[in-house]
Amino acid sequence: MDIKHIRKDFPVYDKHPDLIYFDSAASALKVQTAIDEGMRYYTDLGVNAHRGAYHLAYETTELYEASRLEVASFIGALPEEIIFTRGATMSLNIIARALEQTIQPGDEIITSELEHHSSLLPWMEVAKRRQASLVYVPLTSEGRITVSEFERVLTDKTAIVALTHVSNVMGYMTPIKEITRLARTKNAIVILDAAQSVPHMAVDVKDLDVDFLAFSGHKMFAPTGIGVLYGKKTRLEALSPVEFGGEMADEVFKDHATYKALPLRFEAGTPNIAGVIGLAAAIRYINGLSLPTIHEHTEGLHQYLLAGMKKIEGLTIYNATAENPVVTFNIDGIHPHDASTMLDQFKIGVRSGHHCAHLVSRFLGVNSTIRASMHVYNTIEDCDALISGIIKTRDFFNQF
Ligand SMILES: Cc1ncc(COP(=O)(O)O)c(C=O)c1O
Repeated sequence: MDIKHIRKDFPVYDKHPDLIYFDSAASALKVQTAIDEGMRYYTDLGVNAHRGAYHLAYETTELYEASRLEVASFIGALPEEIIFTRGATMSLNIIARALEQTIQPGDEIITSELEHHSSLLPWMEVAKRRQASLVYVPLTSEGRITVSEFERVLTDKTAIVALTHVSNVMGYMTPIKEITRLARTKNAIVILDAAQSVPHMAVDVKDLDVDFLAFSGHKMFAPTGIGVLYGKKTRLEALSPVEFGGEMADEVFKDHATYKALPLRFEAGTPNIAGVIGLAAAIRYINGLSLPTIHEHTEGLHQYLLAGMKKIEGLTIYNATAENPVVTFNIDGIHPHDASTMLDQFKIGVRSGHHCAHLVSRFLGVNSTIRASMHVYNTIEDCDALISGIIKTRDFFNQF
């Protein structure tokens, strides 16, 4: 891959040519085509979708629905199985709320300590309200979810399995296909948080056979404020909407209302039309490069960075075997916020903190960590800069 050429597709590098960006797991940089396509909606159309009968409205609706088709085909879904939301968090909240009434006292909801708060907290709240229990899959000593550990917690009472596909802190992949197959034997519903997997690997919902899946546009070069909730058609059809208003209504009477068919029944209010169009453009960009090619590049960098970091004394790396290109570490004796502030002096952007996943920090027995995550625009030079930045940071703080 011609990275110099690829970097030109990400206009933030024009404004900040020295930027060394290692925070793609929080939000990926935005690709020019997604910005342009979203902006073109505002300049050339600017009207609502699914409402008016004039030609601009018609064209907007066409573009909105064509984008839905592209998103659906990207993950192997039917277009009516794609619900546009504000992001993975909203998708996961919608599904927890929609399924809440199906949860009975005593039911069990399987989750894990690897979950992002957006995958955990909606179920914690449902469990509290419905007198259900949260059951945690025991993690291996390395911090992984395995099929055998999952099997140990799967019971006749399991109603929901809500797990991350790839951990945003550890970069570990959950063996979700096998887990789903086992969950089926108990008629449990499987909800997959795919916020970190969809931007990096081919995800086919039919192959995984999960019931619901969530991801966000902004982690895959698209605008913020756009996300996706995938639901199996039969599962979605069985659910009542949780948000009301706008074009999701079919017929409204003084004392009751009926709601439209999928997917509009779950899209209350004016949607983020520019975001939807931008997301489709980002998907076209990813398809143009191809996910396997992107993976080959980022995995090469990942291994290069790991090899360099392993040679640094006084460093603890927590996830040397991660599948996603993310290295989570601490410089011994130095607070991650201090370290990342120092790294910023070298124009290096890494994430420090608990990464919206407190239970992972608790599992690791630390307050917080530093996370360096990569995507297609990163280079070997970026990795070299990070390695030398870490050494300088360590030496700077160790002199006191
Ligand atoms: C694994 C995971 N799940 C969910 C989310 C929430 O995504 P968003 O903030 O786009 O709603 C994130 C974002 O960091 C994530 O990494």
